[in-house]
Amino acid sequence: MSILVTGGAGYIGSHTCVELLDAGFEVIVVDNFSNSKSVVLNRIESITGKPLKLYAIDLLHREALEGVFEVNAIEAVIHLAGLKAVGESVDNPLWYYKNNITGTLNLLEIMNKYKVNKMVFSSSATVYGASSSVPNSEDSPLKANNPYGRSKLMIEEILGDLYRSNPDWYISILRYFNPVGAHESGRIGEDPHGIPNNLMPHISRVAVGRSDRLSIFGSDYDTPDGTGVRDYIHVVDLAKGHLKALEKINRVSGINYYNLGTGRGHSVLEVIKMFESVTGRNIPYSLTNRRPGDIDKCYADPTKAKVELDWVARKTLSDMCRDAWRWQKNNPNGYEG
Ligand code: WQD
Repeated sequence: MSILVTGGAGYIGSHTCVELLDAGFEVIVVDNFSNSKSVVLNRIESITGKPLKLYAIDLLHREALEGVFEVNAIEAVIHLAGLKAVGESVDNPLWYYKNNITGTLNLLEIMNKYKVNKMVFSSSATVYGASSSVPNSEDSPLKANNPYGRSKLMIEEILGDLYRSNPDWYISILRYFNPVGAHESGRIGEDPHGIPNNLMPHISRVAVGRSDRLSIFGSDYDTPDGTGVRDYIHVVDLAKGHLKALEKINRVSGINYYNLGTGRGHSVLEVIKMFESVTGRNIPYSLTNRRPGDIDKCYADPTKAKVELDWVARKTLSDMCRDAWRWQKNNPNGYEG
């Protein structure tokens, strides 16, 4: 029996595939390479020494996706495929809703048809409203304030309705906080297309000379040093959380929601200082205006995942910076190189 990973060539997906293969699972990847490169699959195989199956398929191509289920015995699906840039979603809401929601509906209908009723779904801390007090628990108010976050929240609701219609579904919904870092090999990592949205890829590109300086979006937030505070979690810790969620849905039916974060917040300036300290690289920056949609602080209460999944994020901000830099230093132009 195999685990199907949608978006398996992506940043989270590639690290999750490594952990699945290392744990002895057979892995099938479905990816349309809209935000990833096929070379990643070779890197995953070289890291693990194990093969995986790849289907270059868009979830919107229903017939092609059904073909994967026809010829493979699939035990469960880890559903990571989706567009995820907040700003882009504001400019292109219909594209985001079609890609993220219609793609998921196609996947769920085919899973239903082939009696595959186990799913781990990639959600996001973005589903917690800006007004939620920190730390966010799974019971915090839900109110996404952009089409990307709303697409994640809508899919959470769809999965809830699906489970209520058929309690034989086994679903774990994982709300990621801020994934950063890279596998210790330096062979896979975060390689955003074009200009990165996120902080760590920006810092890494300044460090490697691809950007001159970092713009810090806002220095007047209600935080200790005025810059935004987030819960940065090492991508390998996040990937291990998916295996724990998979173990859970292999034991217990039902639908459960889990925050995958460290429970600690760090400001932008703290991240910069840690990165400089760990790597010896200088990160010039300018203090600029706030970015629309940003909030002061966001970090997790990860208690539920600890109690129910026996999962805790173990890597430190220093580990995250060190591993992010190793990836960027070894791959100055990302996978293009
Ligand atoms: C972090 C902090 C910025 C870039 C987003 C999505 C979320 C998830 C992770 C998908 C903020 C500041 C950033 C820069 C900066 N993605 N910053 N200069 O916005 O917390 O979360 O990515 O699941 O859903 O919303 O992450 O890394 O963009 O920003 O000052 O060049 O860094 O203002 O305080 P964010 P981020």
